[in-house]
Amino acid sequence: MRTAPAGRYRGPVTHAPRRAVCPGSYDPVTQGHLDVIERAAALHDEVVVAVLHNPAKAGTFAVAERVGFIERAVSARGVRGVRVEVFADRLLVDVCREVGADVVVKGLRGEADFAYELPMALMNRHLAGVETVFLPGDAGLGHVSSSLVKEVVRYGGDVTGLVPDEVRDALVERLRDR
Ligand code: PNS
Repeated sequence: MRTAPAGRYRGPVTHAPRRAVCPGSYDPVTQGHLDVIERAAALHDEVVVAVLHNPAKAGTFAVAERVGFIERAVSARGVRGVRVEVFADRLLVDVCREVGADVVVKGLRGEADFAYELPMALMNRHLAGVETVFLPGDAGLGHVSSSLVKEVVRYGGDVTGLVPDEVRDALVERLRDR
């Protein structure tokens, strides 16, 4: 076993907790989001899932419902080190500052996501030095988005496996035949 030279030992190596933000509107959370949250949690000490919303715009689900869906799905997956917070009318970089995170994690399903995300990542770095880490989305979930699952449910399609069962049932309740 190697020992530190006498007089130079400074105790165990420690570092400030590495905290990442996974932002989104999560209206509602999908299995694609949950895959990215789980993988972000494996790479960081803590993950803050930031539910960002505009109070002037009514979503499909109230923010409290969105938070509940995420919390229960994360817990059901047994993922540790994740908390969910709500922010209204805020820049993402201000959210990062408030929660003490210097990294944003986003999933990329393909080139269209990259084209959409890159200017935001550059802007966030320009504004506050916040870095964005892109994770390749699960190949089996490349077609899954909150807006598409809502459209499918609205016209009678089945989204089982694309969102948590609880979310599927809530979508059917809220959207079918409307
Ligand atoms: O799930 P979404 O709708 O794709 O999430 C987009 C979101 C909320 C992450 C993005 O719009 C955002 O970061 N909004 C916060 C406002 C902000 O910081 N805008 C400038 C980004 S460069």
